[in-house]
Amino acid sequence: MVSILFVCLGNICRSPAAEGVLRHMAQKEGLELHIESCGLGDWHAGRLPDERMREASKNRGIILSSRAQIFQIAFFDRFDFILVADNKIMKELYRFAETPESKAKIHYITRYSTGFRDQEIPDPYYEGEAGFEHVLDMIEDACAGLIEHLKSAK
Ligand code: 4NP
Repeated sequence: MVSILFVCLGNICRSPAAEGVLRHMAQKEGLELHIESCGLGDWHAGRLPDERMREASKNRGIILSSRAQIFQIAFFDRFDFILVADNKIMKELYRFAETPESKAKIHYITRYSTGFRDQEIPDPYYEGEAGFEHVLDMIEDACAGLIEHLKSAK
């Protein structure tokens, strides 16, 4: 089964939203995927996603129920795709990656997006409601593109 890891900073806004959106879309498509998310910081470990992100997602029919976890080096072996929210996260993971195989798994979450290809997903933590909606717009487009990519690669 193809496995996908989403990585952001706190694992309470962007990456758990991507996890929830992709799981929702994969279920609709009947596509079996293993999906997780994590953060580089441990401030929120064990917590549910940010309430504002849960609310914005719920309004789009997506329930976010993952618990925040911190990135581990072993994830390079456990996942096929390691998809990151922004350039800061990408640079950090490139530093952690010990092999070319690991490095090759790292891409932006928006890698397969049609409207936002390879763009950074901005951190909405200190933003208003519009910031969360914009992040979800980007994530929905990115996940739709990722699903198409995975279906065509099957
Ligand atoms: P995320 O957003 O990386 O999308 O989960 C953030 C959440 C919390 C913090 C930073 C980013 N923080 O500094 O606590």
